[in-house]
Amino acid sequence: MNGLHPASVPIAARQLDGDGRLIHFLSPEGLSRDILEGILDTAAGFIDENDEAVKKAPLLRGKTVANLFFENSTRTLTTFELAAKRLSADVLNINIRTSSTAKGESLLDTLHNLQAMLCDMFVVRHAESGAVHFITDHVAPGVSVINAGDGRHAHPTQAMLDMLTIFRKKGSFEQLAVAVVGDIAHSRVARSEIHALKTLGVKDLRLIGPTTLLPESFAELGGQVWRNMQQGLDGVDVIMMLRLQRERMAAALLPSRREYFNHYGLSEERLKHAKPDALVMHPGPINRGVEIASSVADGTQSAILQQVTYGLAVRMAVMSIVLGNNRQVGSPR
Ligand code: CP
Repeated sequence: MNGLHPASVPIAARQLDGDGRLIHFLSPEGLSRDILEGILDTAAGFIDENDEAVKKAPLLRGKTVANLFFENSTRTLTTFELAAKRLSADVLNINIRTSSTAKGESLLDTLHNLQAMLCDMFVVRHAESGAVHFITDHVAPGVSVINAGDGRHAHPTQAMLDMLTIFRKKGSFEQLAVAVVGDIAHSRVARSEIHALKTLGVKDLRLIGPTTLLPESFAELGGQVWRNMQQGLDGVDVIMMLRLQRERMAAALLPSRREYFNHYGLSEERLKHAKPDALVMHPGPINRGVEIASSVADGTQSAILQQVTYGLAVRMAVMSIVLGNNRQVGSPR
């Protein structure tokens, strides 16, 4: 075993080896700017400048990657699978619904059985915040874990693909005004984005939403809280819209979807409050007409599908970095 971490061990330390190198990717929280920029640089290297396609590489030849998704996914699961294949790894997509989890097998037993098949990496999505940390604490030396989204806690590769999209469209972070809008309270994407944006140097970070979805305490993460969307969007360079995450709401926190769109939906009219070249982003899946108008999601300022394309490069980067670092630990794998 890698050695269990008590709860007091900071999140950053759980994903680094003794020399400070990234061997798991659980959250951008507490990671250095150098590490985050290293991921962006490596991802950029996978992108062919001419057509922005992602190149194939043999970096994970002979390695086995297991995708363990205990929660639904379209973008993350498929881009992780594609990324592993582009890196020449063997890929196992474990269907949790038809696996022995349905017969009562525990998470640890599933993990140990997959390790017995000499898997080198687990990419894990789980509805419980912290489940991925638990797995990380129990994998064998030389095995890496990547968090593909745990509860409302973290979605680190989504944050990094968003950072890559911003960097390639805007060229830097320091001078940007960035708005994150919507259901921030339930969003693992928002938490990871806020950590990444702050570490990469964004100074004007605006968090916009109603009190029920954005408690005042979120200002402690480093953003300024706005209740009025028009005012919050004034002059921003980037707008990151979030999905209403009803599956994580304990009770109805909104009068209606229509009411929500009226106050916090990104319409063409509201978009005019941002800079004329402001980038519109959304991690997906989109609820059209709830948090964003179709005309904006499909409009000229939208980078939503570009985010998905860059997701492939970022996931290739993260997989090659963590396994490359972990290999050097001295594992026989
Ligand atoms: N953005 C995102 O995580 O999408 P999926 O749930 O489809 O993976």
